[in-house]
Amino acid sequence: MQDFRIRPAVPEDAGSIASVHVRSWQQTYRGQLPDEYLDRLVEDIPRRKEVWQRIATTMSEKAALFVAVVGGETVGFVNVNPSRDEDLDPQTFGELGVIYLLEEFWGQGIGKALHDEGMNYLRGAGFTNAMLWVLDSNERTRRWYERQGWRVDSMVKTDDRGTFVLNEVRYIIQL
Ligand SMILES: CC(C)(COP(=O)(O)OP(=O)(O)OC[C@H]1O[C@@H](n2cnc3c(N)ncnc32)[C@H](O)[C@@H]1OP(=O)(O)O)[C@@H](O)C(=O)NCCC(=O)NCCS
Repeated sequence: MQDFRIRPAVPEDAGSIASVHVRSWQQTYRGQLPDEYLDRLVEDIPRRKEVWQRIATTMSEKAALFVAVVGGETVGFVNVNPSRDEDLDPQTFGELGVIYLLEEFWGQGIGKALHDEGMNYLRGAGFTNAMLWVLDSNERTRRWYERQGWRVDSMVKTDDRGTFVLNEVRYIIQL
């Protein structure tokens, strides 16, 4: 068990967030998404860095980005914001947008700490419910969400990435 710290992200974290994001995708979705797609994701890190830099710089009071740090190294992050789904009220529904942790740090309570920080933030911002989207094939994480109290909703969506399709299911939680 390693000591970790959760803190709000600053724009300077964007590079490490982009790198954790890509590495965690490669670790999590190997066998679920095409190898060629996952292998090429490293090429996408500079673009993702810019996206996270923009998010970290233009955060509204209804959105937040936190990082988990171990020994000075960013190992995970969580992003929360108002729900972007058309059928949900963005005043009452927050969204757990993204939560990723490097595989080497799974199972030590760091993910739960990130998750709870995000949920507390949404609660404090006045949201009464939250939603998230997860790949239907991501069974380990789906079980984990269910243990945190999330319940599967009836909504599903597909995202056509050209050479493959992402099938996602929605989960809901009361805050
Ligand atoms: C999903 C994810 C964020 C979970 O994070 P994690 O750090 O592995 O999860 P935790 O260690 O906090 O929780 C796992 C279990 O270990 C337990 N645990 C083990 N050691 C622990 C410790 N020292 N302290 C607290 N809990 C501990 C927790 O109690 C928890 O049990 P629970 O699930 O019954 O609550 C992480 O595994 C991940 O990033 N996965 C891949 C990416 C992904 O799928 N992201 C979501 C995309 S939608």
